[in-house]
Formats: sequence, C-alpha cells, structure tokens
Amino acid sequence: MAPWLLEGKTVALREYAPEDSQAVLAYAQDRDVTRYLPWGPEGTQEVDAFLARVAADALQQPRTQYEVAVVRKDTGALIGAGRLGILSAEHRRGDIGYVLRRDSWGQGIGSEVARLLVDWGFRSLGLHRIEATCDPRNHASRRVLEKLGMNCEGCRRDDFLSHGEWRDSLLFALLEDEWRA
Ligand SMILES: CC(C)(COP(=O)(O)OP(=O)(O)OC[C@H]1O[C@@H](n2cnc3c(N)ncnc32)[C@H](O)[C@@H]1OP(=O)(O)O)[C@@H](O)C(=O)NCCC(=O)NCCS
Repeated sequence: MAPWLLEGKTVALREYAPEDSQAVLAYAQDRDVTRYLPWGPEGTQEVDAFLARVAADALQQPRTQYEVAVVRKDTGALIGAGRLGILSAEHRRGDIGYVLRRDSWGQGIGSEVARLLVDWGFRSLGLHRIEATCDPRNHASRRVLEKLGMNCEGCRRDDFLSHGEWRDSLLFALLEDEWRA
C-alpha cells in the first residue's frame, strides 16, 4: 500500500490505489454522505473512473490536484477522502474538501483531515489563501471550517446543480498570516 503522505493522531492520508475501489464505493454510494455534494451516489463504474482520473492527476507536472485517501492508522481501513487543489499557482490560492464514511462521523476525524490539508497547503505547498465551500445546511462541515479559523466570506447563490436542485455555497477562506497566528 502507498506510504502515508500526512499523518494525524487517528488518520493518515495516502495516495489512492486501484484496489481501493470497494472502499470508495462504500461511502460514495451512501446518500447521507453525498447529500450536500455535487456528485453521487456513485456506482462501480463512476468510482473506477474517479480512481483513474485521480491516478492521472497525480502524474501531472506541476501537480494541481491532490485527491487522497483517508485511512485509519490503527486498522489501515480507508474511511474517506481529502482533497487539496491549486486554484491559482500564480496567486498561491488553493481549496480543500473532505468526505468520510458515515460510521466515522462525530469522532473529530473530519476536523483532523481538514487541519492536515490546511497545514500541508500552507507549510509544504506555499499557499497564501485556502478556500472551502459548504452547503449552508451542512452544519458539520461548516463547523469543521469554523474550527479551523476560516472566515465565512459570503454565500454564492445557486452555485451549482446538486441532485437536480440549485444549491447555494458558503465560501470560507483562511490566509497564510491567519494560519500562522
Ligand atoms: C463533514 C464531515 C467530514 C464532518 O466530519 P466529522 O468527523 O463528523 O466532523 P467532526 O467530528 O470533526 O466534527 C466537527 C464539528 O461539527 C460538529 N457537528 C457534527 N455534526 C453536526 C451536525 N449535524 N450539526 C451541527 N454540528 C455538527 C461537531 O460537534 C464538531 O464540532 P465541535 O468540535 O465544536 O463539537 C462529515 O460529516 C462528512 O463526511 N459529511 C459528508 C460529506 C460532506 O458533506 N463533506 C463536506 C462537503 S463541504
């Protein structure tokens, strides 16, 4: 299995492998997990296409998408995903996202993953600003972002179509100096 890229207290982040398909399917096909996301629920074909895209993204030079697996350190089980994207290399702006299997919610893991991604973005990738969006009804995700010290900069109305409905997005951001402080 791929070595860990980042390590927290409970979970580590690593590159995906083709054999992760079933573990990804376990959360990607769960309607509760994908309720506020622009994708899903997904089937085997979509998950395999996702893993192929992620593998191709990982080979890009320079790399602009880091879509990584979240694994439990104690069991090695894949329980979700973290994502860090470079939105603009010139302006050192990136964004993050995260998703966890439902049976892993409520244990502080979402906050841990988001913290790992933000620390990585500022410390190792040299970003100046990191953004994240969430559905205003997604209280858990909103709280994850607030706990990171991210500021809510407003609401993008009808930001995208999700499950056949227009969906608003709250825009959160953290600047390099705020992260240092
Ligand atoms: C968002 C998500 C990753 C949160 O993960 P998690 O591991 O449950 O989050 P944490 O345990 O770190 O909890 C974060 C905070 O949210 C709070 N919280 C959790 N569920 C909540 C809810 N339904 N309403 C209000 N607050 C909630 C927790 O109490 C905690 O705050 P606290 O530390 O002040 O008590 C998880 O719910 C998930 O995977 N959701 C589906 C995918 C998704 O929506 N991703 C985000 C897209 S923007």
